[in-house]
Amino acid sequence: MRVYMIMGTVVYRTHHTWLSRLFLICVTLFMIWTVLISLQLKSVFEVPVDSGPVLPHTDILGILRDIRRSTKAERGADGSLADDKKCLYRRGKTSIEKDSISRVGEVCQQPTFVSPADDKVQLNFSGVSIDVVNREIFSKRTFAKIRHLNKEAQGAVDETTRNVLSDVSRRGRTCLRSSITLDDYIYTPGGHWKPRHCVPRWKVAVVVPFRDRFTQLPIFLRHLVPFLKKQLLEFGIYIIEQNNNEPFNKAFLMNVGFLESLRFQDWDCVVHHDVDHVPLSYANYYGCGEMPRHFMSGEDTWDYKILYPDMFGQVFGVTRKQMEVINGFPNVYWGWGVEDDAIYSRILLHGYNRSRPVGEVGYYNTIRQDHKQSESNKVRHCLLRHGRERVNSDGLYNIWYSVPRITVEPLYINVSVDIRPLPWNATWTSCEHNALSNTIGTLDFFFNTFLGFRHIFRK
Ligand SMILES: *[C@@H]1O[C@H](CO)[C@@H](O)[C@H](O)[C@H]1NC(C)=O
Ligand SMILES: *[C@@H]1O[C@H](CO)[C@@H](O)[C@H](O)[C@H]1NC(C)=O
Ligand SMILES: *[C@@H]1O[C@H](CO)[C@@H](O)[C@H](O)[C@H]1NC(C)=O
Ligand SMILES: *[C@@H]1O[C@H](CO)[C@@H](O)[C@H](O)[C@H]1NC(C)=O
Repeated sequence: MRVYMIMGTVVYRTHHTWLSRLFLICVTLFMIWTVLISLQLKSVFEVPVDSGPVLPHTDILGILRDIRRSTKAERGADGSLADDKKCLYRRGKTSIEKDSISRVGEVCQQPTFVSPADDKVQLNFSGVSIDVVNREIFSKRTFAKIRHLNKEAQGAVDETTRNVLSDVSRRGRTCLRSSITLDDYIYTPGGHWKPRHCVPRWKVAVVVPFRDRFTQLPIFLRHLVPFLKKQLLEFGIYIIEQNNNEPFNKAFLMNVGFLESLRFQDWDCVVHHDVDHVPLSYANYYGCGEMPRHFMSGEDTWDYKILYPDMFGQVFGVTRKQMEVINGFPNVYWGWGVEDDAIYSRILLHGYNRSRPVGEVGYYNTIRQDHKQSESNKVRHCLLRHGRERVNSDGLYNIWYSVPRITVEPLYINVSVDIRPLPWNATWTSCEHNALSNTIGTLDFFFNTFLGFRHIFRK
């Protein structure tokens, strides 16, 4: 170290060029950073944490376990019929028309493409209203029927939400069962689509964290619904809207989306999707897998590249099991930034790897309209740095939110929720008023992500 200092001083004294000064500054900064990290000064600078009121731990995973158990018990040769039966919490209402159920059948195949141009999604990013998109997807003739079904379904949802408990884990489920067949699909209100002639390989809930992006949403749906139908997936789209003026908390909304979507269907794969990203290739299959999947290998904003190899944001999919194992996503990231890195670090900490399509298959375009830059999170790097402390105690484990307002729309289910910061667990490092930890966090993040070090991710 002394050698470097002497070297730096020598360079500074002898040349006085801006380059040597820069070199000196860099060397000094790097050394300070190394010293701080290596001496583990973290504990010295940590501020004692106020412990807020503590809520009793809700057995949130209980519902998920129950769903899984019932799936195991009921799924026979005719798996899909059991699924429909399982949707029982509103007994006695119309069930899915008998002839339209795909009982035993072939597993739906991923689409194959003969020529590379064949798999290209036709993009149209011109402004459009949700009404136009509805009529485009349902055709004028069936839309009246669809609207009627959705109105009825809204009644069922309102009835359930009137009786819900404040306890998140015991809020029960809502089942929307009336359906209609549309070409190769069975459509149920709230934009739930299921292939008619084959057994879908994945039942995918697309969860979209949302606030104030009303021009982007119709464009997004216009592309995504035909995209998922082409892939013969069973799917539903959940728009999770943060309905308050707190800074946007994307990861928290994703947790809400995961839990709320399971109240409607027995989804086995959850795709978390930015509302402003549209995939360019039908070959980018939105099913899940052994490993959490990052669907993006490049986007137009960055010249069809990703910013750093460990990037894990925008569009990614996890199975329900993976989501449970990693305890969902952190709830503490209020404001824009690094929550996707925090999610990825959880994934690595639990021994998963990520998979990702290669090349053009994973390209996306972004819908750049009414794009207000949201408020950034000033303590994000510090939070990320101390993420390990919270892995098992922040996520689905401690989540709590007031009863969301749920609206059944023809193409999606709108979950409008007023999320608030959860009580801070006394065992977690506080990042507020912790300037040094925030600075170290920023440097640490920079070195970790851009220079390939992996301190925060190390077990
Ligand atoms: C794109 O969408 C707009 C609005 O619906 C429509 O008027 C226009 O014809 C579409 N363009 C193409 C090429 O399909
Ligand atoms: C993840 O990838 C690494 C390196 O490719 C491999 O050594 C490891 O076994 C993989 N982990 C799992 C759980 O597959
Ligand atoms: C969702 O519902 C809320 C409350 O009813 C409403 O204010 C909001 O506009 C809806 N959002 C979307 C995207 O439909
Ligand atoms: C606080 O975190 C610890 C583990 O870090 C956990 O055991 C405890 O249950 C948590 N307390 C609450 C109230 O969630």
